Formats: sequence, C-alpha cells, structure tokens
Amino acid sequence: MSKKAIAIMTSGGDSPGMNAAARAVVRTAIYAGVDVYGINNGYKGMIEDDIIQLNGKSVSDIIQRGGTFLGTARSKEFMTPEGRAKAYANLEKRGINGLCVIGGDGSLRGAAALAKEHGISIVGLPGTIDNDVWGSDYTIGCDTAANTIIDAINKLRDTASAHRRCAVLEVMGRRCGWLAMVTGIAGGAEYILVPEVNYDLEEIISEIKDLYENNKKRYIMVVVAEGAGKAVDIAEKIQQETGIETRPTVLGHVQRGGSPTIQDRIKASQLGEQAALALIGGISNVVYGFNAGRVVQIDLFDAVNNKKTLDPDYVRLARVLQ
Ligand code: F6P
Repeated sequence: MSKKAIAIMTSGGDSPGMNAAARAVVRTAIYAGVDVYGINNGYKGMIEDDIIQLNGKSVSDIIQRGGTFLGTARSKEFMTPEGRAKAYANLEKRGINGLCVIGGDGSLRGAAALAKEHGISIVGLPGTIDNDVWGSDYTIGCDTAANTIIDAINKLRDTASAHRRCAVLEVMGRRCGWLAMVTGIAGGAEYILVPEVNYDLEEIISEIKDLYENNKKRYIMVVVAEGAGKAVDIAEKIQQETGIETRPTVLGHVQRGGSPTIQDRIKASQLGEQAALALIGGISNVVYGFNAGRVVQIDLFDAVNNKKTLDPDYVRLARVLQ
C-alpha cells in the first residue's frame, strides 16, 4: 500500500481561526507519521501546482493570527471540470489521497465536485465568518467576527446616545443574517434586518418616529446584514422621512480580520484534529462541525446541497427584546 499523504488548504473568504484549524491538521498528521502538504492560495494554487510539504514548524506562531498562512483565493477555473482535472493531477503526482478543505459553502461545493469526479477523500471544515454551513451551528471565525461587530455596536451606541441620533450599522452576510442577528440581539439593537426575513422600511420608519416623538427611546440602533440592504440608503431614508439625524456605518472587511477568540481557536483546533484523524482513518466525504457544543460529522453532499436557515428563536427574541 502506498504511503498516506494528505493535503490542507483554505479557500474562499478568510476567517479568524483558519490558521488554528490548519495547524491542528498538520500537527495531528505529523504525530501519526503521515506526510502533509499545504496548498497555497486555495483551488488556484492547486491548479498552479503551488503545493509545499509542511512540517511541525511550518505552523508555528500562527494560532493567534487571523487570516490564513496558506493564503486563499476564489478560482473561476476550478469551477470547470477541466480546471478540477488539472488541480487533481497535481495532488495525484505527490501521492496525496486525502484533502482537507477549510472554507465556506462555495469552497465545500468545489471539494464535493472534486470528490465526485476524481474519487479523492475529502474532509471539509466550515470556515467562514458568516456561519452559514448546513449541519453545523458553528463555523470557524464566526465568534471573532461577532465580537468585532459587538465592539463596533458598543462604540456606535455611545455616540448615538450622546447626540440622540439613529445609527445604522451594515455588517457582512450576503445571503445569511446570522452575524447581524446575534450581534443585534447582543448589542441591544432596536431593528435587525436580515436577508431571511422580509421587512417593511416604511413601517420601521414610522415606529422610529413614534419612539422619538414620545420619548420612548433616547436613540435608535439598526443593524443590517449587507444582503438585506445598504446602510447608506436606509439611513438616508430614515433621516429624510423623520428628520432624525441618522448616520450610516459600513464595517466592511474589518470583520474578517483579527486575532481569533478563544472559542474560535479551541473549536478550530478540535475540528482540525478530527479532520486529520478522519483522513488518516479512511473516512471521506464528510464535514466536521459543531452541534450543541459537540463535534458532529455531516455528509459532505448533504452539507452542500442544503441551505442553512436562520434560527426562528433568534428572530422571535429580537422582536421581543426590541
Ligand atoms: O466570507 C463571507 C463574506 O464575509 C460575506 O459575508 C461577504 O459578502 C463576502 O465574504 C465578501 O468577501 P470578498 O470581499 O472577499 O469577496
């Protein structure tokens, strides 16, 4: 039997904790005597043969860093069967028979296509700040990003309160409102706008007017996921129709960086260890995630073929606590 070799890569939008996960994969593989390769810059690097063998020291001094030491990218070429064949050939020539992909649902979809077409063993780890991978209630980096947002909300509340203004904060989440929802609840926002829930801006504006005119609130905090609207447009409309000074803030890519929280480091480490053990033990086409605090194994194809929904309990809680 040929010697086992596995590879690790990060793909799509980076997220804090990807380094901790990759480090755990590498160290677990080395501990088990298995060769481990790092693919630079995601699927793009796989196609371009940008692949290096890693050792224990390759992953030193990264657990505390955001970003990803392997680099990441989005590759159009990998979306084609020809691109994937080219990429796979670069793994095959090194005897790499297992691949750990850390990324969001698009990255895992790419991995599923590679598994289907070339039979390579895949283990996915959910790595995205959006927390939108089906089957797991956690994705690597979501906690750090949520903490970054909470810090921004706290600061905005200070100044909004001082001026009796309305603050509209736009956070990431093109298709998923998890970040907006949990930070809005934890930050005490009056309104949380997410792509999964329809809202009537006119109704919100008339409520805001009432809250101000009748002195029910000193100021208003609105958190909007980017997929649910633009802070600049919403703020302009609120100001125009109510006369209340309203300021938009777009947090942007600040949310993607930063030193990972302890939760992201620990969970990413647990997932990384599990991913390496699975690949070494011959388990393939799975994603490891968390459910109710425990590591769970999800079928890769289920993970990519299903869409995660927003917990209705959050939606209800946000309304009640408004
Ligand atoms: O990582 C996912 C995400 O954070 C989305 O919420 C956001 O829309 C997107 O990345 C933006 O990423 P980029 O600017 O790198 O394309």
